[in-house]
Amino acid sequence: MKRRLITSALPYVNNIPHLGNLIQVLSADVFARFCRSRGYDTLYVCGTDEYGTATETRAREEGITPRELCDRYHAIHTQVYEWFDIAFDTWGRTSTPQQTEIVQDIFLKLHAAGHVRQETVQQLYSQSSRMFLADRYVRGTCPRCGYRDARGDQCEDCGTLLDPTDLIEPRSSVDGTTPVVKATTHLYIDLPQILPKLQAWIEHAGVAGRWSKNALQMTQAWIRDGLKTRAITRDLKWGIPVPLEGFEDKVFYVWFDAPIGYISITATHTERWRDWWRRPDEVELFQFIGKDNIPFHTVIFPSSLLGTGERWTLLHHMSSSEYLNYEGGQFSKSRGIGVFGTDARETGVPADVWRFYIFYNRPETSDYTFTWADFQQKVNGELIGNVGNLINRTLTFVRRYYDGAVLSPDPSDDRSGAFWRQVREREAAITESLEWAGLRDGLRGACALADLGNKTLQAAEPWRTRKSDPEGTHRLLSDLVYLIRDLAILMAPYIPTTARRIRAMLGQSELYWSDLARHSGVDRVIGPEILFAPLEDELIAKLRVRYSGSQTERIARTQGVPMSDTQQRSESTEPAALSVAARFLRDVDLRAARIVEVERHPDADKLYIEKLDDGSEAGRTIVSGLAGHYRPEELVGKTIVVVANLKPAKLRGVKSEGMLLAAGNKSDATEPPGGEIVDVLFVDGVAPGTRLVLDGENVPPVPSALPTRIKIDAFLAIPIRAVAGVVQVGDATLVADGRPVTTNKLADGIVG
Ligand code: 2FM
Ligand code: ZN
Repeated sequence: MKRRLITSALPYVNNIPHLGNLIQVLSADVFARFCRSRGYDTLYVCGTDEYGTATETRAREEGITPRELCDRYHAIHTQVYEWFDIAFDTWGRTSTPQQTEIVQDIFLKLHAAGHVRQETVQQLYSQSSRMFLADRYVRGTCPRCGYRDARGDQCEDCGTLLDPTDLIEPRSSVDGTTPVVKATTHLYIDLPQILPKLQAWIEHAGVAGRWSKNALQMTQAWIRDGLKTRAITRDLKWGIPVPLEGFEDKVFYVWFDAPIGYISITATHTERWRDWWRRPDEVELFQFIGKDNIPFHTVIFPSSLLGTGERWTLLHHMSSSEYLNYEGGQFSKSRGIGVFGTDARETGVPADVWRFYIFYNRPETSDYTFTWADFQQKVNGELIGNVGNLINRTLTFVRRYYDGAVLSPDPSDDRSGAFWRQVREREAAITESLEWAGLRDGLRGACALADLGNKTLQAAEPWRTRKSDPEGTHRLLSDLVYLIRDLAILMAPYIPTTARRIRAMLGQSELYWSDLARHSGVDRVIGPEILFAPLEDELIAKLRVRYSGSQTERIARTQGVPMSDTQQRSESTEPAALSVAARFLRDVDLRAARIVEVERHPDADKLYIEKLDDGSEAGRTIVSGLAGHYRPEELVGKTIVVVANLKPAKLRGVKSEGMLLAAGNKSDATEPPGGEIVDVLFVDGVAPGTRLVLDGENVPPVPSALPTRIKIDAFLAIPIRAVAGVVQVGDATLVADGRPVTTNKLADGIVG
């Protein structure tokens, strides 16, 4: 019998998971349910990842101990996963004695094998808090662009990667004091030394485990770019003590201990954990992670285990998902954007409906954007309109005209034969997809079977044939009942509660994958009960508003702009800003574009013709009135924002396919912004073609479909300014890829 050990990335404890984070936990759940239904010996292990700087800092901010913080959030995670019906075999946490024991043991073996070295580095230290500061907890002036609030690891303004000691006038964001440079000695795992073993393993495992191209490429890139020794210790309190003389006041780096959490959580579940983790010849390890964690699972964790010289169960197949984005941006825990685990419950939409949607669109090969409109459409169209409809129509008919009685299918029958051959073929394909964690294909395959059922029903017109051919019609409907039974098996991993309800209608308590081939067992149907209520427009509209967060408010919080100041300004000086911003938002498609070429308009002094790279192959050309304000060389290479869905217009004989956003200090609504100053809104760093949206407390959510050729008769006159480098349009924030857009200084002006 196959033995499958399944893990999903251990979620960081110190936050509430959002839909994007839930994907991995849910995916491993679906896969584990499939494996159990197949009859494999299955163990699904997960738990919270608790140690590290983030937890320690967060606890300090909240004035509680890290342990208290972890307890609190571990409980929240537990509730969320319970609500989503995740059937872990063991759900634990990393802050346990078992974790300490196993991590220290692995470390000591690496050390004994000569794979650990010491290095002394210079690091910033806060004397008042008596702690070394992690890179991102130091802020100061960027040496490159002068941005005053640059983070120690990267300047968020110009994007330069930094070392915290590069910052001018650094300050600790933990306590605000000026840190000093201090030497500290850390332990490093010598990955280059372990590399030959790692490479030999990857060569074999990558093929045997059918690693995705993406995973192989990322792994090979890591190795090719030179594996370096990596620090595995930190100057922190909240972590696993380092069992080595001279390192008593250090702990292991969270990324060294976290993957070992998979093992220790198994150990809290069973003393026989070695039956799973030390059995490379028997057990297949399937790991579900987000794409950003690939190298940790293909390089670092395997190296930690290989370096011990012992035999461990190593990664067999990895299912790495892409990102799930939210309405026009990214889910963000730190900025509170999106639907969170706790929110999903409050929507009143059942867990199975969420599960269905998430897997129907699982971001397997590219990112996927959650929108409320899409949610409504997929649920109402596919889950209810297709699957629910087949069940409802078929069972109602069988109940009404055949008193609920079901005949056993007879695939040798002329009429049924072709139908069953097709069904079996497709079921085999679904099974094959699922064997390799092709979860999206598996669900879509099941939906396609439901569609086949609906089409078969429609084509056969039983409502007409039941009198002329009662026996044949009964047979056809019975075949469909058996197809529904199969759907209850195929969809059970995805929508377990619903599958149970379908089974109940068919008088079945349990069904397993092996039942797919059985042509008996269902004699009578009851019900049907309605499985789901459609998602009504009103509910969707309500949810959309409820979960559209206030970016402005969040910016104010995270960037230290006093909220009252931002609000007062928009309230006192621009009372009409909101509705204008909202109107603006409703129709226009804002895109980042890079200016590739600027040339003077042959027939107009004030106009430039700009060629843009807007992410499309053809690019686009616009005409704008910047000639008196910028020299061409000041524009070329800059990234601007264009309204991309304007109806093209001829400006003095030259076709302009859009207009750019700029601020000017004088205008009325019928003239382009002019006066003395015109500041083009530059958004360097945003990739050409990226959609920009407005986000704010009172801004309606971004429509998913926009008109394609809008006409703007009057110039847009909307207050625009840069607050702490962040673009504000009216009282809304301009956002690209889920992050507020930063810019040059703008004249306090209007958009045009
Ligand atoms: O990205 C994360 O949420 C990490 N906590 C994942 C850790 S995966 C494993 F190694 F534990
Ligand atoms: Zn900078």
